[in-house]
Parts: sequence; structure tokens; C-alpha cells
Amino acid sequence: MKFIVRGGKKLEGEIVLGGAKNAATKMLVASLLTSEPMVLHNTPNIGDVAITQELCELVGSSITRDNNTVTVHTPEIKNTRVLSLSRKNRIPVLALGPLLARTGEAEIPLLGGDKIGPRPIDMHLTALEEMGAIIEKRDSSYYAHAPHGLKGVKIQLRYPSVGATENIILAATLAKGRTVIENAATEPEIIDLVKMLQNMGAIIELGANRTIYIDGVRSLRGGEHTILPDRNEAASFASLAVATRGDVFVRNAKQDHLITFLNALRKVGGEYKVENTGIRFWRGKNLTSIELETDTHPGFMTDWQQPFTLLLTQAKGSSILHETVYEDRFGHVGELNIMGADIHVFSKCLGEIACRFNGKNHQHSILVNGPTPLKGISLTIKDLRAGMAHLIATLIAEGESTVDNIEELDRGYENIDTRLQNLGADIIRA
Ligand code: EPU
Repeated sequence: MKFIVRGGKKLEGEIVLGGAKNAATKMLVASLLTSEPMVLHNTPNIGDVAITQELCELVGSSITRDNNTVTVHTPEIKNTRVLSLSRKNRIPVLALGPLLARTGEAEIPLLGGDKIGPRPIDMHLTALEEMGAIIEKRDSSYYAHAPHGLKGVKIQLRYPSVGATENIILAATLAKGRTVIENAATEPEIIDLVKMLQNMGAIIELGANRTIYIDGVRSLRGGEHTILPDRNEAASFASLAVATRGDVFVRNAKQDHLITFLNALRKVGGEYKVENTGIRFWRGKNLTSIELETDTHPGFMTDWQQPFTLLLTQAKGSSILHETVYEDRFGHVGELNIMGADIHVFSKCLGEIACRFNGKNHQHSILVNGPTPLKGISLTIKDLRAGMAHLIATLIAEGESTVDNIEELDRGYENIDTRLQNLGADIIRA
């Protein structure tokens, strides 16, 4: 499927945030930890949630959806091997922790790299091994079992990985004894997962210095949880409002999830007003160049840099963006340059501090010269956030664009075309 977009419209009006993709998928998997029903409100109807639901159903869950409320009930785990998924993606790795915790066994497909880099899972595997799992790499899968159950241990992560932190938390809730995660990730989606697990009966403490303590319990119960709003959608829509010289109220956007983003936006020339029910975004003045570096929370998120790049293409001067979370997340730049942008990619760390990719020849910094008008294009989306950058580019470009492989966007943004049409965008799904 594709979008036909005619650029040049100012986007104006109100858009409502969906529940966070990167919390919803983990929470569906976390529901496997209890035999009782778990009700998840504000669950977005997106591709990644559909894939996770398929995974849960394969394991033995029955799942119903009523608008954005999803109920997952897994009275018994019927299948610990999740190899026959119709679409392969990275979500099955998150089932390792809960399946091992609940049944002592799990088998997941081997995960390759994707469009944003090799994406290893070594920290997930090592941590689970330290907790007592024996993990075998087979031809097309990882097979894990824990003959003596999982036990609490101290785990020091070499980097605050979101997925590894979540996998360990999920495994540790039902493990024997106390698990300590040092150098843990602390993204708001993780805190929301902790809140859900706490409500299910888990004992989890958030300590100082990125330390999380989990005291294992014998069982967890079901319950209800409302998923936090998607801050990646918020950053995308804010960038869209400022890039198109529009004025958009993003309902349910939360200031405390976006503090670093709001600072960067104001520095570049975007404006915002925080209200009780959301945040209004518009262009305050002519955009000016800035230097920016992505980081783990509370830094500037790696998922924000792609839509934000469009603001840099429209800003006067030379901007620098240093990506320190993923080694290969500037795949969107080639098409932007064809559209008229002036972006140069570097393997050097163009930031104040050299990051862990220094000297490794990864293309992980960009220099953006602006402002540059953009022209319509035919392009194929390769990755979700790159796709959002491309979509914003086509919305500010002169003329018509064709955006192919929009299934990538549907993975993370619910009904994006209809929601943008409501803001005045000229976009058609074909
Ligand atoms: N890493 C390792 N070994 C591991 C795990 C991670 O080297 O065992 C490295 C990764 O290669 C990467 C870095 O650590 O360089 C950070 O990866 P992390 O594990 O934190 O990311 P993730 O859990 O795979 C989640 C989101 C991403 C988001 C990142 C960073 C989900 C499903 N995905 O990925 O979201 O960019 O955290 O916040 O939650 C997206 O939504 O489009 C997306 C890619």
C-alpha cells in the first residue's frame, strides 16, 4: 500500500495521541505472567500490537478488543515455542523472560539485524543465563530452559538497554529472591510497565543511579492498566506542526515525558504551550540551526531525531545531529537529499563527547545545511521512524509524492492518514 501526498498545506487543529507502542507490546507480553485476565486500556490498534497479539495467542492467550481496550487471558501456557509467527520481528525476544519465568522453557526465532543496525540481544541472553537459564543457539532459533527455575542475581548492564531491562524485569518478577539491575534503562515506558506489574502483585523498587530491585513473588494476578500516551507520536506531531508552519494541539501529550524534546524544539524556533489536557505546537520564529545528540532517557530520544531532522532542513545555518543509541539510524537521509535537502553523513562523532561508536566506522552523525526547499518524490519506506521523517518531508515539499510500503508506518501510528487529513493534510491511501 502507498500514500499519495500533495505537500504545502499548513497542518492545523487537534490530534489525539494513542497509547505508547513501546509500552503496549511489552504489556501484552507481561500479561503472560498471570493466569488471570489482564485488561489493557488505551492499547493502540497498530501493526506491532497485532504481531504481539499473535505471539500471545500462539502461547495460549485468548484476546478480545473493544475499541482500545484489550483483554488478555492466558489460563495456561499451551506452547512455549513461538516459531510459527506469520511476521518475523523483534518482539519474540521479550517473551523469553516471561515464558522462562512461568514455565521454565522458551524457544524464539533467531533475530537478525534490521534497517537500523545489527541489534544484538546479547545482554538479554547473558542476564537470563545469570538467572539460571541455559540457552542454546539452534539453526533458526534460541532454545532456553531453566531446569532449576530462575533465581534473583545482580546484573550489571554494560549499556542501559530498554529491551534487556524489560526482559529482566519480566523474568525477575517470578524468580526466586532479589534481582538487582544496575545501569538499567529508565524510559517512561519502563516505569509504566513497572506500575502495571506492581498492580499485578510484583515488588519492584526504583533505586538511585539507574538501579532497579525486583523481589520475586510466587504468582501474579490480573488487573487493569491504562497505557501511557505515546511520546514518539507526540514528538512526530510536534515536528509536523512546526515543519508545516501549522498550529496543532496534541491532546494527551505529557510535558514530563518530553522535557528534552521541548527544549530542543524551542532552541530551533518551535513554540509550545503546555495545557492541562495536552500541548499546543506551532512555529515561533524563523528556524535556526542547533547541535543535538540522542541519548538514553532522559536525553533526546533516538526515535525523535528522524522527524526532527526535517526542522533542521528548514533551519538557517548548519546543524549537527549525533546519534549515540543506534549505529545506523540515518537511512532516511538519502531520500531527503534527493528531495533537495543538504545533509552530510559522517562516521566521526560530531558531538561534544565521543560515543561508544567512535572509531568504528558507523555512519552515525549528520551535518544539515539549511534552509532548503524540498520537492515531491516517489520513495519506499524502510523503517518506522525514517518513514515518519519521509512523510513530514512530503507534507512540506512542493508537488506530489508517492510513499510506498506504508505498512511500516502502520506498525506504529494508528490510522495516520485519517488523523493527518483531519489536520488538513492532502494525503490519500492507495
Ligand atoms: N544492545 C546491545 N545488546 C543488547 C541489547 C541492545 O548491544 O542485548 C544495543 C542496541 O544494539 C542499541 C542499544 O543497545 O545500540 C539500545 O538498544 P535498546 O535495547 O535500548 O533498544 P530496544 O529495546 O531494542 C527500544 C524501542 C526502540 C527505541 C529504543 C531506544 C521497542 C520495541 N523498541 O528498542 O524503538 O528506539 O528502545 O529507546 O521498545 C521504534 O519505536 O521505532 C524503535 C526502534
